[in-house]
Amino acid sequence: MIRGNDPILLTPGPLTTSLRTKQAMLNDWGSWDAAFNSITASIRRDVVEIVNGGDDYTCVPLQGSGTFSVEAAIGTLVPRDGKVLVPKNGAYCARIVRICEYLNRAVVDLTVPEDQPTTGAIVEAALAADPSITHVAQVHCETGAGMLNDLAGVAQACRKHGKGLIVDAMSSFAALPIDVRTTPFEALVAASGKCLEGVPGMGVVIVKKSLLESRAGNAHSLAMDLHDQYVYMEKTTQWRYTPPTHVVAALRVAIDQFKEEGGQPARLARYSANCAALIDGMAKLGFRTFLAPAVQAPIIVTFHAPTDTAYSFKTFYEMTRDRGYILYPGKLTQVETFRVGCIGAIDANEMRNVVSAVEQTLKAMGIKQVGPGVQRKAA
Ligand SMILES: Cc1ncc(COP(=O)(O)O)c(C=O)c1O
Repeated sequence: MIRGNDPILLTPGPLTTSLRTKQAMLNDWGSWDAAFNSITASIRRDVVEIVNGGDDYTCVPLQGSGTFSVEAAIGTLVPRDGKVLVPKNGAYCARIVRICEYLNRAVVDLTVPEDQPTTGAIVEAALAADPSITHVAQVHCETGAGMLNDLAGVAQACRKHGKGLIVDAMSSFAALPIDVRTTPFEALVAASGKCLEGVPGMGVVIVKKSLLESRAGNAHSLAMDLHDQYVYMEKTTQWRYTPPTHVVAALRVAIDQFKEEGGQPARLARYSANCAALIDGMAKLGFRTFLAPAVQAPIIVTFHAPTDTAYSFKTFYEMTRDRGYILYPGKLTQVETFRVGCIGAIDANEMRNVVSAVEQTLKAMGIKQVGPGVQRKAA
């Protein structure tokens, strides 16, 4: 599937990509080239199809990392006098609050515990308490801990109260099921380098066409104006400003492989098997997950750090990296954790191998106490 001398990336992105995806970047493309622009068009169509968006939705790609597209979606779609409810149970929700503050959009910052999912009931209560809210910005999988939020419930609450829903599905799109016919949204943001298994460098915003077409001149920024990007792309087939050509070419081939694998259900099955193999293997070494199984998305897993005084994340990370696996630091404020991703062009064998690399690292570091003991505080 992959192979080569690169370490396996067990992070929320960039991810380990397949050889075919890497090879797709060996050509140079001109931005005016009709062949290149037909690749962009086909990606836009395929991305809309993944959520069954039909003719009512379009996909607007945007240069930059995923955050650029989240910011562009909020800046373009939320009216300047709008008010955004952000249920916040992690770092990526907190980032949306910051985006709203930067963009001068009124924001309701609704804290939900980091180990609890946001549900329809939570959002419904907040909407009932403040009818001046116009939009809800919901992170689907809160990658900070790996939490699966109840997107369907939140979408129903928005529908009932007539509010716009903007979804940050960066780490879930193409892996977890999202169907706009049953989970209605105004816009959903994803990126090339996550569960589609392309390389990082562009975001995609799936947006209701009629809504986008009504938002001319609303954006605060030229480069982040999704309406302008859309109008230009529809008119010319080209990207406004220099496209990330190699990223686009790699994404095309990555989506081909996504389809060959069996689309979203097959990807979810592979990631779920990865997640189960990881959690099982780590449990045998004494590691406990931060989240309860019912709310754990099969995307990235947060583990409590070993309680042994010989543990330091930096050394643990470096020694595991030297064995070929890149782990990720924790992103929680209260307890010391680390994260291991389940996504990318990897399978359950790879997860068993990382468990054995972790086992060797523990031994080499002289760590004996992995499980419960005195809980170390986050650094
Ligand atoms: C849920 C979520 N939102 C936003 C982002 C930010 O994406 P980027 O780092 O590509 O800007 C990430 C990245 O992992 C994410 O997982």
